[in-house]
Order: sequence, then C-alpha cells, then structure tokens
Amino acid sequence: MSRSIKYIQTDVNGAAEGQRRRVAIIGAGLVGSLAALNFARMGNDVHLYEYREDIRTAELVQGRSINLALSQRGRKALAAVGLEEQVLATAIPMRGRMLHNVRGRTSIVLYDPCTKQCLYSVGRKQLNEVLLNACDAFPNISCHFEHKLTTANIREGQMQFKVAHEEQLISTSADLVVGCDGAFSSLRQQLVRTPGFNYSQEYIATGYLELCIPAKNGEFQMPPNYLHIWPRDSFMMIALPNQDKSFTVTLSMPFEVFAQLKTHQQLLDFFRQHYMDALPLIGEEQLIKDFFKTRPQHLLSVKCKPYHFADKALILGDAAHAMVPYYGQGMNAGMEDVTLLTSILNEQLPLDEALAKFTESRWQDAFAICDLAMYNYVEMRDLTKRLSFRCRKWLDTTLFRLFPRQWVPLYNSVSFSSMPYSQCIANRQWQDRLLHKTLSFSLLASCLVAGAIYARRLR
Ligand SMILES: Cc1cc2nc3c(=O)[nH]c(=O)nc-3n(C[C@H](O)[C@H](O)[C@H](O)COP(=O)(O)OP(=O)(O)OC[C@H]3O[C@@H](n4cnc5c(N)ncnc54)[C@H](O)[C@@H]3O)c2cc1C
Ligand SMILES: *[C@@H]1O[C@H](CO)[C@@H](O)[C@H](O)[C@H]1NC(C)=O
Ligand SMILES: *[C@@H]1O[C@H](CO)[C@@H](O)[C@H](O)[C@H]1NC(C)=O
Repeated sequence: MSRSIKYIQTDVNGAAEGQRRRVAIIGAGLVGSLAALNFARMGNDVHLYEYREDIRTAELVQGRSINLALSQRGRKALAAVGLEEQVLATAIPMRGRMLHNVRGRTSIVLYDPCTKQCLYSVGRKQLNEVLLNACDAFPNISCHFEHKLTTANIREGQMQFKVAHEEQLISTSADLVVGCDGAFSSLRQQLVRTPGFNYSQEYIATGYLELCIPAKNGEFQMPPNYLHIWPRDSFMMIALPNQDKSFTVTLSMPFEVFAQLKTHQQLLDFFRQHYMDALPLIGEEQLIKDFFKTRPQHLLSVKCKPYHFADKALILGDAAHAMVPYYGQGMNAGMEDVTLLTSILNEQLPLDEALAKFTESRWQDAFAICDLAMYNYVEMRDLTKRLSFRCRKWLDTTLFRLFPRQWVPLYNSVSFSSMPYSQCIANRQWQDRLLHKTLSFSLLASCLVAGAIYARRLR
C-alpha cells in the first residue's frame, strides 16, 4: 500500500525554488482530492491519506450514495482544475424548488427566473471518482487508502497512521499537513490543543435518514429538474434526482419524532398523513425496509479559528467549518477554500504568512455560511410555506428582474455568485433596510395582494 517515500529537502522560508514541499493531505473526500490536485499543480509532492478504501473499487458504499447540490463556488473550483465540464456532463440541473403540500399538490419556485442559473445534482461517489482519477494522472500525487490518521505532532510535522490489516502503526512526516478529514477531523483535534485556538460545535436536535424513490419503467417518477421539498413545520423531506432516474430522499426531523415511529404501522400512518404523495413513489415495503435499516444521523455545525498552525498545519472543508446541510453549501464552501488558498499560495509569500492570510481572509465567510445554513434550516421547513416568505420572494424576484445587477436576492448571491458569504449577508441587510425605508404602504399592500394571488395560483 504505502510506497516508499522520497524525502525532499525544502527551503523552510518557502520562496520561489523552495516552493516544492512534501505535503500530506488527510482525507481523500471531495475537498481533500481537490486540494491534492492544486498542491500538485503548484509543484509539491503530495501524499493523500484516506481512512476508507478506494471509493472507486469499493464494493459496497453503505446506504445509497447520496447526491449533492453543486453550485457556483464548487463549479468555479472544478473549472480551475479543468474538471467542471466532465462533472456537469453527468449532473442533473435543478431549476428551482418544487414544493409538495400535505395534500400532494405541487408548486414551483424557480431559483433564478431572470438569468436561469440552476443547481446541479451530482453523485458524491461519481464526483469523488472524477477527482481521484485526476489525482492518478499526476505523477506527484501518491494515494494511500485505508490509512487512518491516529496521532499527529503538528509542531514536528510527524504523523501516525493505522493501516488496515496491519498491526503496527506507520509513522511518516511532511513539511505541511493539510486536514481535509471532515466534520470529525482528527487533525483539528490536534489544533484544538494549541493555545489560542477557538472552537465551538453545535449539534441540532434534528437527524436525517436517507430513502429512495426508484425509477419506474426506466423513468423518473417526478419531474427531474427540481429540488423537491416537502416542508412540514418542524420536519421536512427533500429529494434530489440521480443519473439512474431515481431520487435520493432525505427525511429530516427531530430525533423525538423519529423515536415515535416504532412500528411499521406507525411509520406508514405518519407518511400517509404528511407525505401522502411520496409514499406510493417510495413504495410501502421499501420505505419500511430503508427506514428501519439505519438510525437517523446526527448533524453538526463547527466553527473554529485559526485554520492553520505556523507553516506546519492547515484544515480545510468540513474539518474547518462543518455546517448543517440546509443551504447546500458545505461542499461548495470547502471547494471555495481551495480556490482561495491556491490564489494566496500563488502570491509566493513565506508559507506561515500565506497560511495566516488564508485564515484571516476566510474565517468571517466560513462563520457566515455556517450561520446562513442554520437559518435556512428554519426557512426550508417552515418559511417556504408562509405567505410572507412567498411575498418577499416575489418582491426579490421582481426587483432582481428590474435591476439584475443591483438587486441580487440572498439565495442567488450565495448559490450563483462568488460574492464572499459575509457580504451576501450584508447585502441582504442592506436590502431589508431599503425595503423598510422606501416601500410605501400602498406598494406593500399591492405586493401582498399580488403575493396572495400568486400563492393561490400555486396551491
Ligand atoms: C445530508 C447531507 C446533505 C448535504 N448536501 C450538500 C449539498 O447539497 N451541497 C453541498 O455543497 N454540500 C452538502 N453537504 C455537505 C457536504 O457533504 C460536505 O460539506 C462535504 O462532504 C465536505 O467535504 P470534505 O472533503 O471536507 O469532508 P468529507 O466529505 O467528510 O471527507 C472527509 C474524508 O476524510 C476521511 N477521513 C476522516 N477521518 C480520517 C482520518 N483520521 N484519517 C484519514 N482519513 C480520514 C473520510 O473517510 C472522508 O473520505 C451535505 C451534507 C449532508 C450530511
Ligand atoms: C514530480 O517529482 C519529480 C521528482 O520527484 C520532479 O522531477 C518533477 O518535476 C515533479 N513534477 C511536477 C509536475 O512537479
Ligand atoms: C477567540 O475568541 C475571543 C473571544 O471572542 C477573541 O477575543 C479572540 O480574538 C479569538 N481568537 C481568535 C484566534 O480568533
């Protein structure tokens, strides 16, 4: 597995010629494999260590491989390594939200009626495969699967890995250790112990579980080009289309509600009551099987700062800023980390300064998207049903249509632009102030009427 490793003398100060470093990347997920490509392109020797077996040859991926919404920030990062087209070729565009009410009626809220931008549903496994195949094409990236980081001495750049089927831990070292090892990052655990490192985590009381709406007669059972949402106050369900014409369904609800569904009958009654239209699509038997097969998963939000330690260690992606999944930005934000880092590293500053600059340029935006994701957790399950939300949405869309440059709605600036996340929030606050100040009562009233008509039409 682990090939013998050449040690390359590097210039500690890191300028020009000395740029060539031995970089260890922990985690070959979406962010780690993308980071590996970028470090290799900059001429470093990259070692990519992944706990799991190679996702490309792994026989069984537990559960169904989930799909993700890819938007502007992720696309931009993929484009930078020449992979955007390849990824989009098998992705499914989602032009808006399709809302399903309790009676099974649907209505559509387009993401961007003006410039027609959309989200793309991509399979996690397929995307990871594209990235890993690109890594294989680089002579200077070595992949080490089934290597689990157990301990690291970040001051010395020393790491120890547990290798599958082997008794003894293996030790290795690197000039720079980059943790892309996800929400429960082992490398972050080492950083937590360094003085001055701020860290907070929050579990929400909601868990999620994956279900599936299979293809029927080789066709999608619902319109494929939408992100389907069943908003139900304290809980909700969403579905994203897959390449094989199935949908991956994510049921999200408080753990206490999950706990109440103990028997097959209770589960079916619950679905008949809340997800009437989805039940026959999932199929009763399949629902029972999938629902009781696994426990609901926990969701976690993590904020920390700084993201680096001297010129020795760095964390990116979920390791640095795990968030609840309700804005569909976790992967996109993680990939944007890599875009930003690469542009800073290309400035050829001494490495410690470059890493410090990365933390300084990133933390506000990372905190902002964690907050936005938490906010959307409320919006998606609750507000999407409310008239005030639809009215605001309608106003946003109308103003966006009239002033496409000046008035970009929050969701659009987050998903379809590379505006820094913190600026997206500031922009929204500016819009709110302006609306409150300048909207006369008559305009508000007419908007309400129009909103009501619109909402009725959709119902
Ligand atoms: C239900 C759900 C839906 C989501 N939907 C979206 C979406 O629509 N759009 C979006 O942008 N984001 C979405 N996300 C977020 C997205 O999944 C994450 O932000 C993204 O996977 C982060 O990538 P990562 O590479 O940082 O971490 P991960 O994908 O978690 O990868 C970490 C890798 O590190 C490996 N690893 C862990 N520990 C070690 C160790 N000690 N040693 C070696 N390797 C290790 C793991 O095996 C894994 O391969 C969703 C998340 C969830 C839970
Ligand atoms: C890869 O590494 C070899 C030596 O290990 C070096 O000669 C070569 O220039 C490197 N390639 C790139 C693209 O950095
Ligand atoms: C950690 O948090 C404290 C209190 O909010 C703050 O004063 C300090 O600057 C933070 N440290 C870093 C590295 O951000």
